[in-house]
Amino acid sequence: MNYIGVDLGTSAVKLLLMNGEGEILKIVSREYPVSFPKSGWSEQSPEDWYTQTVDGIKELVNATDDHTIAGISVAGQMHGLVTLDKDDKVIRKAILWNDGRSQKESDYLNEEITRRKLTEYTGNISYAGFTAPKILWMKENEPENFARISKIMLPKDYITYMLTGVCATDPSDASGTLYYDVKNRCWSKEMCDILGITVDQLPQVFESYEKVGEVKADVLKELGIVGTTIVAAGAGDNAGAAVGMGIIGEGAANISLGTSGTFFISSNSFSEDFDNHLHSFAHADGAYHVMGCILSAASCNKWYMEEILKTKDYNGESGQIADENLGQNRVYFLPYLMGERSPINDTNSRAVFYGMSMDTSRAEMIQAVYEGVSFALRDCLEAARSMGIKVTESCVCGGGSKSKIWLKILSNILGIKLMQTENTEGPSFGAAILAAVAAGEYASVDEACKKLIKITESVEPDAELTALYEERYQEYSKIYPALKSTFEFVANRR
Ligand code: XUL
Repeated sequence: MNYIGVDLGTSAVKLLLMNGEGEILKIVSREYPVSFPKSGWSEQSPEDWYTQTVDGIKELVNATDDHTIAGISVAGQMHGLVTLDKDDKVIRKAILWNDGRSQKESDYLNEEITRRKLTEYTGNISYAGFTAPKILWMKENEPENFARISKIMLPKDYITYMLTGVCATDPSDASGTLYYDVKNRCWSKEMCDILGITVDQLPQVFESYEKVGEVKADVLKELGIVGTTIVAAGAGDNAGAAVGMGIIGEGAANISLGTSGTFFISSNSFSEDFDNHLHSFAHADGAYHVMGCILSAASCNKWYMEEILKTKDYNGESGQIADENLGQNRVYFLPYLMGERSPINDTNSRAVFYGMSMDTSRAEMIQAVYEGVSFALRDCLEAARSMGIKVTESCVCGGGSKSKIWLKILSNILGIKLMQTENTEGPSFGAAILAAVAAGEYASVDEACKKLIKITESVEPDAELTALYEERYQEYSKIYPALKSTFEFVANRR
């Protein structure tokens, strides 16, 4: 039997064809644009997501012998606000996870409704990137759009809806809305009242590995699929990536170096971060996780290489980093290109290169980008440690994990062992696994992960380099507090 796992990312949709034995037969991707209408805002068109997903699925169907696909599921970028009217028309472009426009609304939720009440209702506090403050922003700034809302969904749920006609979501993605009660795995009536929405505008919640429906007959025809195809609820991209890397059960960790950077720690039970630095979310295996999310990770590298250096020769550029300069760089980089979520929760913050002198080289600047993103992930690790969580090793996935030098830097900055699996596809592989479980190919996510995922490579931290990086991290940690008050005037200028 064949399965398709879809990773609905921010720069592209990646699709993977897997057989019942878990072998990856083909991977394709399709890009789409993201618009930044103002500094710190970001939007995408759900129609683009669907058109490109359909195009990718067709290519994968053509790669099979018999044009059958037993199951599909989508792991998608989280938190995005997708709204449909009564005729199922998309009302406006989706407001994405890294869009900071709703800071005022987020502050209202945290301060007026109060963090205590939010945590009681949902297990989390508000961040501008979450869906709830975006709904309040729309209500306040686009009342005519708000009045037209018939359905509210998350990015991946739009794809599932278009494929099946079933408006469905899953607990891991619903967790990032701030109107889902994570601990009790149901929508929060209290939050719906605060936002002025109703539960019947929201998708039905299925576990990630459950079947929500089947691909509609007309869509099957368009995709060129023979027979029937079930669709599983899927997951938020980070929970999907964790499944694809085998990160389930107590205390297992995964780092994703994608457009965003995440530090994901799975857990058998629900636990809150009382300092509210990390998110307490549901996992795609039916359990829970905590997660820190930095808004710009591999995207910092892409921005620096492509926008600033005007090159796509990533290996050539990173190959210039001198081994003897590791742990010794005098240049620092704060990676806050889109503001920052975990742990500083500051939408006004912006990226900074710090400490250059006349003898600073191009290679040192690139090294600073890798280091800055790694220091920001270290901030997330420290937040997890402050909750009493012990992390001595982690898997790593995402585009950035293809860089050996970056992994060496990251391992030494975190002081932990990093492991890679046979494939680093993360979310799309996880989504294919969820589809296979929903189709009955495997009895559980746990069984599928045990059978299909193998660690193949690892990077160990070096004691001397870790000590040097500890000093650099202490220095890096002084830069943001010193600059914090200066960010407002840059962030608020068009
Ligand atoms: C997680 C988050 C990001 C997006 C990116 O909270 O906002 O990782 O899911 O796709």
